[in-house]
Amino acid sequence: MVTAIVGTQWGDEGKGRVSYFETRNANVVVRCTGGNNAGHTVVSNGQKYALHLLPSSIINPSVMSVIGTGVVINPESLISEIRLLSERGVEITPKNLLISNRAHVILPIHVSKDKAEEVLKVKFGLSKVGTTGRGIGPAYEDVASRYGIHMYDLLGDFETLSKKIKFVAYMNNFILGLANMNHYPDKECEQIAREYLEYGEYLKAFISDTKPFFYDHLDKESSIVLEGAQAAFLDVEQGRPPFSTASHPTASGSCTGAGLGPLFVNEVIGVMKAYTSRVGEGPFPTEQKNEIGNKIMKLGHEYGTTTGRPRRCGWLDLVMIKDAVKINSCTCLALNHLDTIGKLSEIKVCIGYKYHGKVINYVPVDHENCEPIYKTFCGNWSADGITKFDHLPEKAKRYIDFIEEYTGVTVVYIGTGPDNEKTIVR
Ligand code: IMP
Repeated sequence: MVTAIVGTQWGDEGKGRVSYFETRNANVVVRCTGGNNAGHTVVSNGQKYALHLLPSSIINPSVMSVIGTGVVINPESLISEIRLLSERGVEITPKNLLISNRAHVILPIHVSKDKAEEVLKVKFGLSKVGTTGRGIGPAYEDVASRYGIHMYDLLGDFETLSKKIKFVAYMNNFILGLANMNHYPDKECEQIAREYLEYGEYLKAFISDTKPFFYDHLDKESSIVLEGAQAAFLDVEQGRPPFSTASHPTASGSCTGAGLGPLFVNEVIGVMKAYTSRVGEGPFPTEQKNEIGNKIMKLGHEYGTTTGRPRRCGWLDLVMIKDAVKINSCTCLALNHLDTIGKLSEIKVCIGYKYHGKVINYVPVDHENCEPIYKTFCGNWSADGITKFDHLPEKAKRYIDFIEEYTGVTVVYIGTGPDNEKTIVR
């Protein structure tokens, strides 16, 4: 049984909560795409853990946590995440953590280039992306250019690794120069090679080929969860580049990132919030740059886990959700923050776009040219901490019924408060 968990908006939908429930009985949990641009908080036994690269299952040593082929790994961040968790008593050994030897590595050069590209875009009169500044985009650029460094390379020899790093520097230094940033000379590349071999030494017991591992688990019909990061509209093709991340945070991207074919996936859970939020730049048709947006931000505690930036907030955009259901083949939805949205007296939901003189119900490439058409719901309900669907106020039930009717899929998880326990499971 393979279940994929994906974001249906612009990230931060609360995928951690769904993972919490889905991974409890899983044998294997895989992080498939992205890097330490992601951030999710897992609460277990009253303890809070902030994770960026490790799957949320890491706090449960009986589950095998895997960092898949499609992830870009900053080994320094990964090691500090492992160390921090270990110091807090979380057991992390090769028995419960496996890192794909095909996953690519983020180098300091990538982090510098991430900043340089933002500076250059502005210099050129283009809008910056508002990246997390973690080097994610440049690392994937090198993946596509076929000279990126694999985790496998960190287990090799100094000569080969330093040659490869020097070539990465050579191909990227030009861009750094254009942004008036320091180059990476050969000496520094050699120093990086030494450091990265040390990281390899630390991580080597975890690094391996994930293929035999997955094939064995598929044969055993194990329960495998593909844990999504980011979301459908941050996808480099389905989003609005340049305002996207550099990977494919969709169900099909998760398949590629794990190295599993799409027909193995039995269930795709699309995670959404009862409103919309976005970090960074880019179009956001239902954004409320007013008191309503501020109120949602405060009520929903909408601040980035990775960067701490306040998130832009607005009404639920069901056109996006329906589109995400199609992009991902979602079989069901998980809805978070039902309690938060109920604190507003009047709630709007986008059910179509006015777009170049017509009405459409999909997300076009020029999303910024969409004017939302809204349906209004009565709010002022209290869903706080309710754990049974039948106990929800009628107004809240109507909101959920409408989401199901519009998207054509059922809502199976409903978040009614910040703690994972405050969840309705249907
Ligand atoms: P990057 O992934 O750091 O290149 O950033 C590209 C865009 O994706 C920026 O707008 C980021 O704020 C956004 N982004 C990346 N990861 C996340 C995430 O986990 N949640 C929300 N937004 C994200």
